[in-house]
Order: sequence, then structure tokens, then C-alpha cells
Amino acid sequence: MQCSRTDLHLERCPSPRSEDADRFRELLFRRSQGEPIAYLLGTQEFYGREFVVDERVLIPRPETEHLVEVVMRDSPGRCVIDVGTGSGAIAVTLAAERPEFQLLALDRSSDALQVARTNAQHCGVADRVRFAVSDLLATVTSSGNWSCVVANLPYVEPKDLWGLPRDVRDHEPMLALTPDRDRPEVLRQRLMDQARECLESGGLLALEVGAGQAGAVRDEMLRRGYGRIRIHNDLAGIGRVVAGFLRG
Ligand SMILES: C[S@@+](CC[C@H](N)C(=O)[O-])C[C@H]1O[C@@H](n2cnc3c(N)ncnc32)[C@H](O)[C@@H]1O
Repeated sequence: MQCSRTDLHLERCPSPRSEDADRFRELLFRRSQGEPIAYLLGTQEFYGREFVVDERVLIPRPETEHLVEVVMRDSPGRCVIDVGTGSGAIAVTLAAERPEFQLLALDRSSDALQVARTNAQHCGVADRVRFAVSDLLATVTSSGNWSCVVANLPYVEPKDLWGLPRDVRDHEPMLALTPDRDRPEVLRQRLMDQARECLESGGLLALEVGAGQAGAVRDEMLRRGYGRIRIHNDLAGIGRVVAGFLRG
């Protein structure tokens, strides 16, 4: 109705026009089918900015803001790759918060990259974020000179999909929830190995993980050449980010 919530309570708004009422009924119907509010509104706030979202991308979660903060604090340099960028929430936020950063944002989904490009434009950072379709880091040819690889890869086990809320399971992209070929830990191990080739010595690998996965991910990173590994908890006290540095 294009008026504020306050005006609505003070009855300062005109009665809804019939086309607005029709539109509202349509939104109500979609919500009754479990479609998330963010898709209905077309936007989701992340780290203080508004991101365009639709069914092509995962809705960015507040937990992922911890991942962004770890990279901002611990990246030893300014060249950062965001793997599985989705809406671009991580790459675009890093570019907006750190004007010296140069970002490469990758995703296997070209549909998701279209949304991410829109978000980079809206946030005024399109000149510092490059986008490319890529299976993990397979298309990255320049090796040994990246400061940081950050990723929030799909981490739901296929067997756990049915336990997810209907809003998530039936509406968010399946490729963003669970890997289509490997199990989540195999996908992550592939990323750890590929990142070893891309990162400079001492470069940072920062991964978001699911509840209960952090310890195993830390051990795997240790086995695959990373050190000074830390687990960062989210506000619920769940180990949410595992980050470590490539050993020289
Ligand atoms: C959990 S979503 C994260 C989206 C966004 N980075 C965020 O934090 O909101 C995972 C993303 O990884 C992408 N993805 C899945 N498998 C991939 C792969 N093998 N290589 C690159 N991207 C992949 C999905 O398309 C999806 O956009």
C-alpha cells in the first residue's frame, strides 16, 4: 500500500485498491505454499545491505556474517575468491566493506551468478568483483597468488534433506543445500586440495560448516596442509566457521 507501518496503525492509509488486494491475496497464497518471505519480497538484508534474492539463490543467513568478519579480520592480503557465491552476499559485502579488496566470485550455477551480478551493481562494487561459472576452483588458472579462499558450500547431508523445514527444502535451490555429486565432506576436501594450489603461502581458507561438522573439518584441514586453524562459533554457540592458513 506504499505507506509505513505507523501510518497503517494510525489509519492514515487509504483503503487498499482492488489490484493491491489481489496482489496481496496472491502473496498470501504463495506464502501458504511455504514460499519464504524473502522470495515474496524479493530482498533479504545481509550485513546491513539489501540483497536481491529469488528462487535461483539461497537466502543469505545471518550466520554467514561471521564468515565475512573472519575474512575481513584475518585475510593476509586483498585478493579473495568466494566459491559458491550464490546471491553474492559474501563477495559483494567484502568488496563493499573493504575498498582495497579484489574479488573473484564463482558458482556452478549461471542462474545464481546473474543474481550476484545484479547485487554487485546495486551495491556499487561491480568494478571490483569478477564473476565466473566454475566447479569449485577448476577454472582458476593463476595459482599461488590468492590471499584468501572463502566458501559457504552446500553442507546438508542428502539423508538429512527431509528433516529441513518445508520452506527451505521445497523452495531454495537444491544445489545450494546439498551437493549433487559428492557428499558434503568430499566436496569440501576437493576444495581444500584445490585451494592449496591457488593460495599464496600463509593464505587463508575460511569455510562455513553445518552444526556438528566443525571438528571433522578442522582435522581434515590439518591433514591437507593447513595450520593455525580456529573454529569460530555463531551467536548460538555452534561452531560455524573453520579457518586456517596454508602452511609454507
Ligand atoms: C549454501 S549456498 C551459499 C550461497 C552464498 N555464498 C551464501 O553464503 O549465502 C552454496 C552455493 O554453492 C554453489 N555450488 C554448489 N556446488 C558447487 C560447486 N561444485 N562449485 C561451485 N559452486 C557450487 C551453489 O550453486 C550455491 O550457490
